[in-house]
Amino acid sequence: MGHRLAAATVLLLALVAGAAAAGEQAVGAGVEEAGKSAAWTGGLSRRSFPAGFVFGTAASAYQVEGMALKDGRGPSIWDAFVKIPGEIANNATADVTVDEYHRYKEDVDIMKRMGFDAYRFSISWSRIFPTGTGKVNWKGVAYYNRLINYMLKIGITPYANLYHYDLPEALEVQYGGLLNRKIVEAFADYAEFCFKTFGDRVKNWMTFNEPRVVAALGYDDGAFAPGRCTKCKAGNSATEPYIVAHHLILSHAAAAQIYRHKYQHVQKGRIGILLDFVWYEGLTNSTADQDAAQRSRDFHVGWFLHPIIYGEYPKSLQVIVKERLPRFTADEIQMVKGSIDYVGINQYTAYYVRDQQPNATTIPSYSSDWHAAFASSFLTFFAPLGAADERNGVPIGPRANSDWLYIVPWGLYKAVTYVKEKYGNPTMLLSENGMDDPGNVTVAQGVHDTARVAYYRSYITKLKEAIDDGANCVGYFAWSMLDNFEWKLGYTSRFGLVYVDFATLRRYPKASAYWFRDVVTGKN
Ligand code: GAL
Repeated sequence: MGHRLAAATVLLLALVAGAAAAGEQAVGAGVEEAGKSAAWTGGLSRRSFPAGFVFGTAASAYQVEGMALKDGRGPSIWDAFVKIPGEIANNATADVTVDEYHRYKEDVDIMKRMGFDAYRFSISWSRIFPTGTGKVNWKGVAYYNRLINYMLKIGITPYANLYHYDLPEALEVQYGGLLNRKIVEAFADYAEFCFKTFGDRVKNWMTFNEPRVVAALGYDDGAFAPGRCTKCKAGNSATEPYIVAHHLILSHAAAAQIYRHKYQHVQKGRIGILLDFVWYEGLTNSTADQDAAQRSRDFHVGWFLHPIIYGEYPKSLQVIVKERLPRFTADEIQMVKGSIDYVGINQYTAYYVRDQQPNATTIPSYSSDWHAAFASSFLTFFAPLGAADERNGVPIGPRANSDWLYIVPWGLYKAVTYVKEKYGNPTMLLSENGMDDPGNVTVAQGVHDTARVAYYRSYITKLKEAIDDGANCVGYFAWSMLDNFEWKLGYTSRFGLVYVDFATLRRYPKASAYWFRDVVTGKN
């Protein structure tokens, strides 16, 4: 009920805002047939942004490539995880997904025709090293060479991310994967291989996508691979997320160090990391709730960005987590501090948050360490005592298809501004942003994505405001160009600017794709 109401609100907003014109788009029209403007741009155009600002779309290897177990690729922890019955909606896998492995030219062509400058893709570690280390799969190397070379030929700049949730399963089996310190060297070796092999053409590197999600969902609530937690078959939510996060930070820093020492001066690229950042707004103005919101921001983005900028974990983590929080040695601090040339912020949503101190029954875990309560499918397990998605009965925003995704454009402004103010205004990319529709919509329904058009218009307007107010954000990447494999939700969620018929794999640009074309080609 609440969901339907929310959807209606979005639709109404979209119509009022002028997105109705989207309905004029011929269903499934090819990009070249699209003569008209898709929808009102909201006054946004490339000219609204600083010179050189980059517009792109983002995706990840496991979600779009397919050929998951072919052409020599080794399995990742996600290939193992999706096989567990009940973990993924309809027990779906990404064995085929949208088959970008074969259709990359078509996909890069669509990007180009929509006017995008860049593609943020990820490299599958186990496609390069099927068992994580040692023997190279040259067919995998050849695939990324084809993809990169085609992008450059067409004029799409590659932004390559080395890790998007997909640890080689062999390392998980051999020594517990990210829980083992050995992962730092293994990742650094893999990263170096990529710099050496692709770095003559790839100038924008990212080490990890959302290390927080890897640590929290993989080891605190167990919703993502490898599915460990205190209540799971195996795991410890009080310690493992912190150990994994520590190893991820060191792995990132080790790779960045190699890049800077051996490759950067010749290849002239840059290296960074991609962090998810939900904006947390205090439920009330009480000091307790305001402090809870600050702790949430520390435990979320600060967990990673604080060590990278300042060389230590946020004070709130040090005080609360105590001896469960690993420490950096003096040498490690040197390596970690300042280990980014830029940072990607993945921003989708915002939650109200209120103070919730632990009591005798609280089971220690990363999430209960926040001493905060809020609402989200990802987080209710952590905060069983209460939802805080409403203030005085009013939701923080309408909800998309994903139950964690409330539409709150002002949250993006606050998140970007927070990074600017708290972390010395680093060079930023808004590296993911988007919303999903349900999976079971037809092509005819799917391409008329008025709610998505309204979402992008409102969020990008807020990004522009943050930049106008001084945030050093130099690029924006929509998630995602194509509908694709959405982790737990499998194919029951569609985040794309382009509808994919999962039976035929045919691509149909949605109104939002044409909307982007009008904004980034700046004709309005
Ligand atoms: C991000 C993630 C992506 C994508 C998106 C939508 O957190 O990096 O892989 O799935 O969320 O849920």
